[in-house]
Amino acid sequence: MGLLGEALSRPGVRGALWRAWYPFFSRRIAGRGVDFLNYAFDPLDGVRPSLDDQDEAWRHNVQLYAHVAGSAALRGRRVLEVSCGHGGGASWIARTFSPEAYVGLDLNPEAVRHCGSRHRLPGLSFVQGDAQDLPFADASFDVVLNVEASHCYPDFPGFVDQVARVLKSGGLFLHADLRHAGGVPEWVGTISRHPRLRLEAMRLITPEVLRGMEAVSDRHAALVRECLPWPLKGLGRDFAGVRGSLTHRALAAGDLDYRSFRLVRS
Ligand SMILES: C[S@@+](CC[C@H](N)C(=O)[O-])C[C@H]1O[C@@H](n2cnc3c(N)ncnc32)[C@H](O)[C@@H]1O
Repeated sequence: MGLLGEALSRPGVRGALWRAWYPFFSRRIAGRGVDFLNYAFDPLDGVRPSLDDQDEAWRHNVQLYAHVAGSAALRGRRVLEVSCGHGGGASWIARTFSPEAYVGLDLNPEAVRHCGSRHRLPGLSFVQGDAQDLPFADASFDVVLNVEASHCYPDFPGFVDQVARVLKSGGLFLHADLRHAGGVPEWVGTISRHPRLRLEAMRLITPEVLRGMEAVSDRHAALVRECLPWPLKGLGRDFAGVRGSLTHRALAAGDLDYRSFRLVRS
């Protein structure tokens, strides 16, 4: 492994890079109405949620949220989304499932600003904060949702401890993300062996994410082309999962695994 590879394998270095990258990216795409930052999802069984015009434009990104959270009973519940990004998922869930309160948290202050100005709904709020140090009281949420973000956290076990702390007994942890194949046993082990969480379901969803990624590839490629300076375009295409990028090829080859989880707080 080269020096750069060695540096990038350190969780602290990767965490610092993501901490700098997301506010930079949010500033570059500001004003374009980008409400989702995920790779998207297209179900293999063809069963798709019906969406209004506002959400239809983001169908494949919404479908990832529908897969992770759509079957949970959210009406009247207190929901925390850790790493809500630009808030498109938060807005769709708040409008579709009527939770009592929905708090979106993200480390990126530009994303939190974007959410505050674009997604104004009763019961929906956004705060800046760190997944590894959640600024909420013990047992204060019925559901914690976390979509395609935990690979950025330097301390994943610390994040899972925080989730278990803020969830009420019987509460749900709904989680989806990707890992290099070699990191999957540690990832799954951290979640499934947590003393206060019981794994109810885990699904490999790489095929559905690949289909979603391909469906949004042209839009992601245009964003990279129009918003990033030329030295960052290659990196941007990998980050955005454009067709033929490193990320797209690694998922297709099985070198990256995308999974979803449903856990219950004991
Ligand atoms: C790929 S985006 C996904 C955003 C959103 N869930 C979506 O699906 O559109 C990952 C998000 O994780 C956030 N993030 C990274 N590290 C974080 C941390 N330590 N605490 C909270 N959020 C973090 C980033 O700022 C970014 O918004």
